[in-house]
Amino acid sequence: MVPTLVVFGAGGLAREAAMVARRLGHEAAAFVDRAPGPAIHDIPVMTEAEAARRHPGADAVIAVGDHALRRRLAAVAADLGFACPALIDPTTVTGPGVGFADGVLVLPGAVFTVDVAVGAHVLVNPGVTIAHDVAIGAFASLSPGVHVAGNVAIGEDAFLGIGASVANGRPGRPLTIGAGAFVAAGATVTAEVAPGLRVAGVPARPLPSKDLQP
Ligand SMILES: CC(C)(COP(=O)(O)OP(=O)(O)OC[C@H]1O[C@@H](n2cnc3c(N)ncnc32)[C@H](O)[C@@H]1OP(=O)(O)O)[C@@H](O)C(=O)NCCC(=O)NCCS
Repeated sequence: MVPTLVVFGAGGLAREAAMVARRLGHEAAAFVDRAPGPAIHDIPVMTEAEAARRHPGADAVIAVGDHALRRRLAAVAADLGFACPALIDPTTVTGPGVGFADGVLVLPGAVFTVDVAVGAHVLVNPGVTIAHDVAIGAFASLSPGVHVAGNVAIGEDAFLGIGASVANGRPGRPLTIGAGAFVAAGATVTAEVAPGLRVAGVPARPLPSKDLQP
């Protein structure tokens, strides 16, 4: 039987998640939004309650970019009885010791070499490369083309902008990007980033201005 998938979200990432689902042979049966709306790519848009009524026992993917909303919707999906197995595009390259927790969404063209732990509901956009001995905390977001070298630890809810790079740590002493940190587009991280800190540039430095918003 073709697995049925409910896609939480109705924006660009949700459409991308539905694409991955199709590529895996799943049936993307619904997009979930605050209110019903016109079908998207022939997939109906409905509320979470309606999705739970129509598709009991289906799997779900939380396909929203904002990590805080992703957390909230993951709890909603669990309350409604949806399981969120990892949704990994078939082009993904993985080696030994690579593990994905529930809810992980990996879009096409990502590489995880060896010994990489990807936490719950982490978002991995197209063309991300992750080298050996990397841990990625729950609900972190890796934008398209992020590159992470070996021996790196990325905290929960961290955001790495498009094209950001992270230099290597050392065995047993990972370069750490703290929980909730924000790494701007194109930045190169060469040293630890404290939890909640916002950095930009090459090499990455703290953003001086509070008016820089994600
Ligand atoms: C950092 C960021 C949030 C700043 O956005 P913003 O608040 O609109 O900032 P502005 O474009 O008004 O620029 C403000 C200043 O910061 C600089 N700046 C902006 N983005 C920068 C970046 N990524 N790296 C270095 N400097 C940056 C600008 O040059 C400007 O400098 P100035 O005041 O000297 O002229 C944004 O550039 C960014 O990185 N967003 C992430 C986007 C992304 O990766 N999305 C992926 C979705 S999948």
